[in-house]
Amino acid sequence: MKTRKLGASGIDASVVAFGAWAIGGWKWGGTDAKESIKAIHSAVESGVNFIDTAAVYGFGVSEELVGDAIAGIARDKLVVATKCGLRWDIESPTLHAQSEGKNIYRSLAADSIKWELEQSLKRLKTDYIDLYQTHWPDPQTASSDVMETLVQLKQQGKIRAIGFCNADVSHLQDAAKVQALDVDQEKYSLLDRERDADNLPYCVDKKLAFLAYSPIAQGLLSGRVSTERKFGDGDLRIGNPRFSAEALQSISTLLKPLKTMAADTGHTVEQLVLAWTLMQPGLSHVLVGARNSEQAVNNAKAGAIDLSDEQYNIIDKMAGSWEGFP
Ligand SMILES: NC(=O)c1ccc[n+]([C@@H]2O[C@H](COP(=O)([O-])OP(=O)(O)OC[C@H]3O[C@@H](n4cnc5c(N)ncnc54)[C@H](OP(=O)(O)O)[C@@H]3O)[C@@H](O)[C@H]2O)c1
Repeated sequence: MKTRKLGASGIDASVVAFGAWAIGGWKWGGTDAKESIKAIHSAVESGVNFIDTAAVYGFGVSEELVGDAIAGIARDKLVVATKCGLRWDIESPTLHAQSEGKNIYRSLAADSIKWELEQSLKRLKTDYIDLYQTHWPDPQTASSDVMETLVQLKQQGKIRAIGFCNADVSHLQDAAKVQALDVDQEKYSLLDRERDADNLPYCVDKKLAFLAYSPIAQGLLSGRVSTERKFGDGDLRIGNPRFSAEALQSISTLLKPLKTMAADTGHTVEQLVLAWTLMQPGLSHVLVGARNSEQAVNNAKAGAIDLSDEQYNIIDKMAGSWEGFP
């Protein structure tokens, strides 16, 4: 497993991280606690030391499960990342989403961040967070003010590195007036490359780590999602146009060269996709969700793959031919 630094923090994190959204169950059709914990253990046994969760994933459930899973592992061998800023227990002027009968609001007010951190520490059963990230910008709070709060928490030793998610470059620039960020976490996959134009060049220039979320496009880039696939109740993929029969057909056609390469090399399609993703300029880590041990082990293996120039060029040409979802 390769590792790379989280910006200037000095923290060395595996290039493949375990993404813990799906194990929270919320928006993923439910969860199985035993399977989830086994998946995290399998990831760690496969060289993954980096786990990304958030308070809102399963409304605390994902953090609880991560806390249970890491309880028997030496804390200093792990890089635990979580997020704040989406509250389902208070109201704020900015409604982020409505889901499962809950209103989820954005807040990055200083008191809210400090309160949330204490809750996350309890659920994760730890006394520090390696990487603390804002989940979404809060229009009510300037990014420089948010950064002031996070820097205080870092000075208190409660967090070791600071990141923003779902941020525009203007948010990153505003935060940098206070102190350099370590991490920017954004949606990025072979099918979703909008950040090539803005956040990625910014991260290269300012030496921030760039964490790609949903790097296998929520399963699509495994090449194994078919129209026969039945998703559990509440799964975000139900009725999602990215999972329509037409979209699945386009992706299947796109991935043909990768299926051939997978058969020739013994890698899986998603491993090759992840290896290519990790070679994009400035992109440092991929956060991949896994719901069971098999997926976790499979995904971790991508962190050791060295694509040849020829293999890279084939995948790159294929990626360049993607014209977007139908
Ligand atoms: N900051 C943010 O706003 C934000 C937003 C989204 C995600 N994230 C982070 O990024 C992580 C990953 O994103 P994601 O979960 O949205 O998408 P993803 O990693 O692209 O896809 C994960 C899903 O793909 C399927 N899968 C995983 N490995 C597979 C394999 N080897 N073969 C076939 N299918 C496989 C699983 O679902 P099934 O088994 O059900 O098909 C899994 O839940 C999250 O867990 C979270 O940590 C952050």
